[in-house]
Amino acid sequence: MKVVVVGAGIVGLSSALRIVEDCGTAGLKMTVMADKFSPNTTSDVAAGIWCPPRRKMTEREMQWLKWSQEYLTSLLKTPYAPEIGVFLQSGWIVWMHADFQDPDWKDLVQGYRHPTKWELTHLFPEYKDGFFCTTFMLESRLFLPWVTNRLKDRGVKFVERKVQSLDELSLDYDVIINCSGVGAHDLVGDTKVFPSRGQVMRVKAPWVKHWMLLEGKHSYIPGIPYIVGGSNSTLIGGIRQDGRWDLHNDPRDTEMIWKGVTAAFPALKDAEVLEEKTGLRPMRESIRLESEKKTDPLSGRSVQVIHNYGHGANGITWSLGCAKEVALMVKQLLQEKSTKSRL
Ligand SMILES: Cc1cc2nc3c(=O)[nH]c(=O)nc-3n(C[C@H](O)[C@H](O)[C@H](O)COP(=O)(O)OP(=O)(O)OC[C@H]3O[C@@H](n4cnc5c(N)ncnc54)[C@H](O)[C@@H]3O)c2cc1C
Ligand SMILES: *[C@@H]1O[C@H](CO)[C@@H](O)[C@H](O)[C@H]1NC(C)=O
Ligand SMILES: *[C@@H]1O[C@H](CO)[C@@H](O)[C@H](O)[C@H]1NC(C)=O
Ligand SMILES: *[C@@H]1O[C@H](CO)[C@@H](O)[C@H](O)[C@H]1NC(C)=O
Repeated sequence: MKVVVVGAGIVGLSSALRIVEDCGTAGLKMTVMADKFSPNTTSDVAAGIWCPPRRKMTEREMQWLKWSQEYLTSLLKTPYAPEIGVFLQSGWIVWMHADFQDPDWKDLVQGYRHPTKWELTHLFPEYKDGFFCTTFMLESRLFLPWVTNRLKDRGVKFVERKVQSLDELSLDYDVIINCSGVGAHDLVGDTKVFPSRGQVMRVKAPWVKHWMLLEGKHSYIPGIPYIVGGSNSTLIGGIRQDGRWDLHNDPRDTEMIWKGVTAAFPALKDAEVLEEKTGLRPMRESIRLESEKKTDPLSGRSVQVIHNYGHGANGITWSLGCAKEVALMVKQLLQEKSTKSRL
């Protein structure tokens, strides 16, 4: 069975990884095809905090989150965890409103609690509520190159190419896995997908050991600044622009980030700037993860498409869980195929 994964961000590479691990490589020939690879994907821009969105979860979404946690837990216990960007970090998200229902996933992170009085008074003055917890970090910058090498070792081919339409692939492959992120909007249009542009800076501030995300309108802190301690640098940001597609670092956004972050955390005023990056979060009302049979209009050949895109502002969090469901779908296709060939 010939499988092509379109997309080499965290969603595409996690899918490829879990297919190879859960289905084996016997009877499977896999290609990863993308126009951008690490370090040039949106996934490389992300901070990498494992934190789901703060809304009601469906049962299926809870399952993805659990699968993702299970996989990260197994990685955490390997000797190479730090090299592949997997570690734990604690931190706070705080906001301006006081009525908040604890999320369904609160027991999937460790030590979930509301901020203490001291924290709200001294660390986050004016903010009304929020939460603190310990959770995984998954840094794509380190994880994606590791997955790539692991897949190459298992015989997976990597091809740099922009795919204009599904029809280009339906003659050469039996299964197409669509992990094109915000690119799904263009690939003949899922118009439900739109970008939320983010810009970040990496700075040298090795004393930052927590993540802190501040939300809401504050009297002297502009924007929605955040800081995250990475394994080799500190990430700062605070840009969320819905509907904006351009990928260059905008000096106005640089200034906005700097003003917000230094107003909230004056100790960062003299931090050396190492790098700036911009990425597009693939927003959608919900993740599209489903299988669809298509027939090539010319040859009449049928091909299975598995869609896995639209992971929004939390794709690092979802990726390894959604990837397990993709692997289960591929496993079933392999079984059907081997049953058929025995008939
Ligand atoms: C500033 C910022 C901070 C973030 N922080 C976090 C965080 O802390 N935690 C978290 O969980 N999430 C975070 N996110 C969200 C996360 O980055 C995304 O949800 C995730 O990266 C989406 O992954 P993806 O693989 O779907 O997309 P991408 O990483 O964008 O990958 C898409 C892939 O598809 C390929 N592609 C697209 N169209 C085509 C085509 N037509 N032909 C060929 N190839 C194509 C691209 O080349 C690329 O390889 C953050 C995002 C931003 C911008
Ligand atoms: C990433 O983008 C830069 C600048 O466009 C390019 O020079 C580099 O080759 C790209 N890297 C990969 C792995 O594609
Ligand atoms: C990916 O999904 C989008 C939205 O349904 C679709 O338009 C596009 O053709 C798909 N691309 C591939 C390569 O399957
Ligand atoms: C860590 O950061 C330094 C610069 O501060 C850089 O020289 C080094 O290559 C980085 N190491 C990794 C593994 O990214």
